[in-house]
Amino acid sequence: MDVIVTRDRAGLVKARKTLGIGAGGATLALVPTMGALHEGHRSLIRLAHERADRVAVSIFVNPLQFGPAEDYSRYPRTLDADLEVCAEEGVGLVFAPSAADMYLPDRQVGVSAGAMGSVVEGGFRPGHFDGVLTVVLKLFNLVRPDVAVFGQKDAQQLALIRRMVADLDVPVSVVGAPTVREPDGLAMSSRNRYLSPHDRVAALALSRALAAGAGRRTPQEARRAAGAVLEAEPAVAVDYLVLVHPATFEEVRDDHSGEAILAVAAKVGSTRLIDNVTVTF
Ligand code: PAJ
Repeated sequence: MDVIVTRDRAGLVKARKTLGIGAGGATLALVPTMGALHEGHRSLIRLAHERADRVAVSIFVNPLQFGPAEDYSRYPRTLDADLEVCAEEGVGLVFAPSAADMYLPDRQVGVSAGAMGSVVEGGFRPGHFDGVLTVVLKLFNLVRPDVAVFGQKDAQQLALIRRMVADLDVPVSVVGAPTVREPDGLAMSSRNRYLSPHDRVAALALSRALAAGAGRRTPQEARRAAGAVLEAEPAVAVDYLVLVHPATFEEVRDDHSGEAILAVAAKVGSTRLIDNVTVTF
């Protein structure tokens, strides 16, 4: 397994060559991550192996996607354990640059996520999706994968990456992967480790609310059933509970038929969690 820790084109070109990637050769799938790898990330790596001959993982806590009051400095950094996970999962290339190396000190140009980047999650995290798309495009340009795998856990992020790839003609096929959950339903997240035992129990209200909303006959009933579960848990401070179009993240109307995403974000203690399910009407 090659581990590249600098934004060094020559190193990446060499690593691609070692793996036999390129014209007529093996295909490459990239799994972009911020590290602190868990079962959810492992499932993405396994899906990547199904979609390409070789798998690369990037590990980079991207300062551009954290707001000034957010948890950039306390985000978990566990590189040694992450490298072990990657080795166990048969990853051929790990790209783990430092923040100082990834961004030029005089950088100016970035990707704008547009109107779709400022609704729902983007409404609570201004600039977040611009930062996500900018780093993802840079990762694509550096690693040059044929395929990139992202989790449905971050549904708006996945929809925006699909939008960017379509709007900017990025030559990468995007694959979405299902959300991996703990046995009791909590969606796996690098941030779950910050939950106190009490908050860990309260956090189950998110997945319970989504389960209550799924299987309802109308959007109105789905919102009401999910909302009732969240209201019954005082330790959960809801940022939003929305039912949106999967591709645009606009709220669906009450006569909507077809798929919609029921998405929730809430603070449990000092930890902010997000989760979603796809509902069909
Ligand atoms: P991170 O939160 O590390 O997540 C990396 C990838 O793992 C994302 O595609 C995310 O959707 C997926 N993922 C996280 N938890 C999951 C779960 N429980 N089940 C399935 N997939 C899961 O998302 C980011 O990093 C960053 O924004 C990034 C795309 C790397 C850009 O910086």
